[in-house]
Amino acid sequence: MNQSPDLLVVGGLVVNDDWSAPATVVVRDGRIVQVIAAGEPIPPTSDDTRVVDATGHLVLPGGVDPHTHIGMSLGDYTTHDGYLEATTAALWGGTTTVVDFAIPTAGQTPLEAVLERRQAAALGVCDAALHACVIDWDDSVPGQLREMAELGVRTVKLFTTYRDVVMADPGTVVRVMKSLRTLGGMAYVHAEANHLVESDQDKAASAGRIDASGHAHTRSELAEVTAVREVLSSAAALDVPVYFVHQSTPAAISEVRRARARGVRAYTETCPHYLTLDDSVYQSESPELYVCCPPLRSASTVAGVVRRTLAREVDTIGSDHCCYTLEQKRADRSDVRVMPNGMPGVETRMPVIFTELVRRRRLPLERFVALTAANPARLNGIHPRKGVIAPGSDADLIIIDPAETRTVTANGLHMATDYSPYEGKSLSGWPSTVIVKGEVLLHQGVLHVAGHRGKALESGPLVQDRLLC
Ligand code: URP
Ligand code: ZN
Ligand code: ZN
Repeated sequence: MNQSPDLLVVGGLVVNDDWSAPATVVVRDGRIVQVIAAGEPIPPTSDDTRVVDATGHLVLPGGVDPHTHIGMSLGDYTTHDGYLEATTAALWGGTTTVVDFAIPTAGQTPLEAVLERRQAAALGVCDAALHACVIDWDDSVPGQLREMAELGVRTVKLFTTYRDVVMADPGTVVRVMKSLRTLGGMAYVHAEANHLVESDQDKAASAGRIDASGHAHTRSELAEVTAVREVLSSAAALDVPVYFVHQSTPAAISEVRRARARGVRAYTETCPHYLTLDDSVYQSESPELYVCCPPLRSASTVAGVVRRTLAREVDTIGSDHCCYTLEQKRADRSDVRVMPNGMPGVETRMPVIFTELVRRRRLPLERFVALTAANPARLNGIHPRKGVIAPGSDADLIIIDPAETRTVTANGLHMATDYSPYEGKSLSGWPSTVIVKGEVLLHQGVLHVAGHRGKALESGPLVQDRLLC
């Protein structure tokens, strides 16, 4: 058997979440086989060994995006991408694994939604793990959850809002949490108190301000923190881990931290937009482009979320990628109760965070890796296969020239939409090379992908006690 490496990545600064050092990464059969400190001897190569020179560059684990909605149907709208488009765009932005939501469509059971998406994941150019989603409780749900856990899907999304669309009532939330306890699973919660949201929406509608420009007033910080508190007390009483998606306020993040200090296994995800965009965009010419739930907050709230992220109070950063087009965002902009929520972001997640937190605010590189790759992998049971550069791990690597900046234009991006909330922003942290399972798929601005190579990942035990945050 030919034991020479297939690929060597030489000369770069290798960064994991707990160390960084100049090193060579040795790859064979799609896996990392050795990480060799610079200056130490490297194994003999053959004519077939490819050598990628990363001198002057950073070599990081490929990003793991814990929160994508690929081809999602919610209400009257369906996002405009599939696994091929979304994962290709992910690569361009340095993400090599996505964790996508299997939200049941009308008439579909949670298990059917998972099975459908497991098949669709094969259409991607990189691997995808899945979160299930339960909307309504019935006697078949515990059996479905058991079957999903056997398939390696142990994280279950519960929405406390979007009544009559995907909202789970409080009884369902508690029942699902109880089942997850016995299955070693975790609740993934969108926390906004629906009764408060609806009463704010009613007020806005009466005042004639239910269009996109009034969005921030229809989903208050109070609504978020109220739901977070309620879910945390259930998680504490039931001793079930809970992960709060897209936290947008310092108060909500602090609730999670305090619960964690009391021994509750509770985790915070925030998103690039809650760290970089504020509610002044709702007064721009196109407020509808920024309609997402929770909404973008005041500048002082954004500053608070940034402070907490820098202070290690945030566990992961997910994109909450929703690839609606301009036409879709505009069609019902006169009523935020009807229009589609969410923004495209799987491609910009890593560069936005690299630019805003690493470049501008000196977030250590190890911490960047923790937030964007290692912690999402751990919390989804796919670590150490993903999220780390170590022998035995999949050779999912990105190489970044930290000095390179690019100006965002929707045309220059690869997501299946025609706008970006970051249009015109100058960002760094773009990968010059992306390696997926040992294959160099993107190199010096050229994509070399022929065919689908995605796999639906089975999550192992969800590792929650070794987060580096
Ligand atoms: O506005 C958002 N975030 N839309 C996507 C669905 C969700 O709530 O995550
Ligand atoms: Zn949500
Ligand atoms: Zn989401």
